[in-house]
This record gives sequence, C-alpha cells and structure tokens, in this order.
Amino acid sequence: MTKESTYQSLFPQIQSLISSETDLIANMANIVAALHNTFHFWWTGFYIVKEKPKFEIINHQSSINQELVLGPFQGPIACTRIPFGKGVCGTAWQQNKTLIVPNVHEFPGHIACSSASKSEIVVPIRQNGEVIAVLDIDSKDYNSFDEIDKNYLEQIQLFN
Ligand code: SME
Repeated sequence: MTKESTYQSLFPQIQSLISSETDLIANMANIVAALHNTFHFWWTGFYIVKEKPKFEIINHQSSINQELVLGPFQGPIACTRIPFGKGVCGTAWQQNKTLIVPNVHEFPGHIACSSASKSEIVVPIRQNGEVIAVLDIDSKDYNSFDEIDKNYLEQIQLFN
C-alpha cells in the first residue's frame, strides 16, 4: 500500500471519529492515535496555543502572552512548552504555515525533545484563520515527509 492510499483509507475513518464528538482534546487524542498507529511515526502529537501563566508574563516582559503547551500525543515524553517563533513548532505557528523539515539538524533553533528524531512536519490547526494548535510529527529517519503528508494532514479539520 502506498502512503497516499494509506492516507486515503485512513482519512474517512478519522473524519467519522471526530465528526460525532465536539470535545477538542478527545478528538486530538484520537487523531494522534490513528496517525501514530497507522504510520508508526516516532512521535505524533499536538501542541496547543495557550495563555502563559501570569508570573511568566511579568518576569519575561514578553509581548507575546501565549505559548504552545503539550497536548495529546503518542510516543516518548516531550517538552511541555514552546515559545512563539521557537523551534519548528513555534515557527510554524508564527508563520501560520506547514513546515517540512527533512533534516532537523539543519533547522536553526530546532528543539530536540528526543535525539532520535531526524525529520519532522508541523501543520498549523486553525479556527477562524487563527492558529490554535499545531500537529507535530517526528520520524527517526531523514526525509520522511513530503507534499503527500502535507496535503493530507492539512485536511484535518477540528472545527466546522
Ligand atoms: N522538535 C520540535 C519540538 C517538539 S518535539 O519534536 C516533540 C520543535 O523544534 O519545535
């Protein structure tokens, strides 16, 4: 089975899984489980845009009072908070676009939650055009992600 045909058979299942449930976290949890167990990625998960705790805003005087916080995922433990514009996830959020990173060692500022991770794709999840989360997938091999992954993963709609 090609990657494309795997996505083609998996996506209607994902769609039907999430269409009958309105809870965001429950839907994110099932999406990562479905993707992770189908493709056997190294790490599959969501980071969710959240307000920073108040003390952090005061201490760091940052103009951005939001950050990415670890959400539902499958795989080894991961970093819990990622600032706006940092790492692949924070950059995809800042640029509001999907980033495919064929070799994470060549991405300036890549955040290595695991030294095993070699390539990565990060897809923004939007509500009314605004990024409210990112889907982050890591592979143990270089060059694992391409336009096929981008095209399908961008179709994940958590809001109708
Ligand atoms: N590598 C990501 C951090 C998250 S982990 O890969 C799970 C990044 O650079 O944003």
